[in-house]
Amino acid sequence: MCGIVGVLGDHEAAPLLVEALKRLEYRGYDSAGIATINDGRLDRRRAVGKLVNLADLLVHHPLAGKAGIGHTRWATHGAPTEANAHPHRSGPVAVVHNGIIENFRALRAELASHGIAHETETDTETVALLAHHFMQQGMGPVEAARATIARLEGAYALCFLFEGEADLLVAARRGSPLAVGHGDGEMFVGSDAIALAPMTDRITYLEEGDIAVVTRDSLVITDVNGHLANRPIKTIEIEAARVDKAGHRHFMAKEIAEQPSVIGAALGHYLSSDGTCLTLPEGVPDFAKVERLTLVACGTAYYACLTAKYWFEQLARLPVEVDIASEFRYREPPVSPGTTALFVSQSGETADTLAALRYMQGRAAKIVSVVNVPESSIARESDLALSIHAGAEIGVASTKAFTCQLTVLLLLALKAAQDRGHVGAERLADLLSGLRALPATFNTAMERNEQIRAIARQLATAPSALFLGRGLMYPLALEGALKLKEISYIHAEAYASGELKHGPIALIDETMPVVVMAPCDALFDKTVSNMQEVMARGGRILLVSDARGVTQAGDCVWQTITLPDTDPILAPILYALPAQLIAYHTAVAKGTDVDQPRNLAKSVTVE
Ligand code: F6R
Repeated sequence: MCGIVGVLGDHEAAPLLVEALKRLEYRGYDSAGIATINDGRLDRRRAVGKLVNLADLLVHHPLAGKAGIGHTRWATHGAPTEANAHPHRSGPVAVVHNGIIENFRALRAELASHGIAHETETDTETVALLAHHFMQQGMGPVEAARATIARLEGAYALCFLFEGEADLLVAARRGSPLAVGHGDGEMFVGSDAIALAPMTDRITYLEEGDIAVVTRDSLVITDVNGHLANRPIKTIEIEAARVDKAGHRHFMAKEIAEQPSVIGAALGHYLSSDGTCLTLPEGVPDFAKVERLTLVACGTAYYACLTAKYWFEQLARLPVEVDIASEFRYREPPVSPGTTALFVSQSGETADTLAALRYMQGRAAKIVSVVNVPESSIARESDLALSIHAGAEIGVASTKAFTCQLTVLLLLALKAAQDRGHVGAERLADLLSGLRALPATFNTAMERNEQIRAIARQLATAPSALFLGRGLMYPLALEGALKLKEISYIHAEAYASGELKHGPIALIDETMPVVVMAPCDALFDKTVSNMQEVMARGGRILLVSDARGVTQAGDCVWQTITLPDTDPILAPILYALPAQLIAYHTAVAKGTDVDQPRNLAKSVTVE
């Protein structure tokens, strides 16, 4: 969602701000803006749409000055217009904001009672007006920022810039992440380390409730209680902050191709050096003592949890419930004391997942998270956070994070099976050997890329598509449909194959491609029957299976994609690859914005 950047530099701030905003583009946005202080004067430029529009504006109307703030906005309150774009300004105060100020209507009314009018529909303008109001009452900039922040309810990250103050930024974090970067005689503020990577690799992450007063040679942080706080400076790995396409046309293509190496990295972290034993960190529960596992997540991470339900139940005979985070806490589910809660999130900042986690604090026996960002809020608020080691995921559509989430969840399910005495040494060795072979299997499956590109050209003309799967392939069918709709904008739905005749079969005609994800496993014959039902009604089947499955299905299916053989337990990880490639090539054929699909944000920090 919105991206924030701030610079107190030694050079012109505007180019640095735009460059940093480019690195935040992946979060999703629909307008952008910057403000700087030049000769003490505060000025700003804002533009609707892509950053290139802001960059063009700056060519014709440059902004000088070495101190500034910048923002990419994902509209919540008010349409994506120039007036609603950040930075918002009132008198000497400019502010950028990520999150939602929940009490902005009450504050608006209060300001109106002082004769202070709003010009925009945004919640953020209220912050600028309030700080300006406090300054008119005689407060200095830092005091006014503090007084303003004290009045705000909701989740936010904020960065203030003040006219006449070319060596001051005030930053605050509550609910949305924010980091301060340390340069040589320069200081920076950013939504994440990725934004600041070209400027510095020395980062201080703000904690919940922190307010940071930043100058070029000092950083003073106070915590939620107003006490001075000492936050460490961490050196981030350059690799972690690398944001380039490495020769690929899109980040999504790069991230799909990276899967063999990142799955290998995830396995390397949680298996012994010879790959034959699980070496999950201390703190992973003894699953023999766990009565119930509750898995909670959103979107793609939710589908990873649904897959894990099959694994934990089948392999470890452990009762599992899976919930969508946005529904979870409002249902007020009763939680038995023997429950372990597991939260899965790539970003570790998803507002709904974080809120569900907080609901479980004090209710579940243990809170474990599976995340890609170890410094994230979800990781920090868990009893134990397991990293998926996928590296920065920039494409809005999650790909490598999904398969790494699945890999780590399967390792946890195997540990549960071991703890509960439901897996023999031989079967465990088989599965671990299959897992170790997965990166190579992925590379072989990647050979289908050109064939999938050709099929996708035909899919691109379809108004909608269905995805079907049984057992472990059902959650994968859901993920395949989500991928297709989010980047190609083709309407797609997924069903458990056996559900088709309970309603959705009414949709089948010759215009409806039906993607069937079905390795030749114990359920394959039943899936073949479901395919016959589709074909009997003129539907076009695209079967993704292994060689045996493709042979058994016969000639009457429209298209087939043959994948290497793999253990049925591991199939959801491998079959994610064709699901991703189908979506990717269809989107490319349709000419959509693959990495930043319309309306979507990478890290969903509002409810
Ligand atoms: C889909 C996608 C989203 C995310 C969801 C949760 O491709 O990326 O559905 O999976 O917004 O995000 P995280 O995993 O960051 O909690």
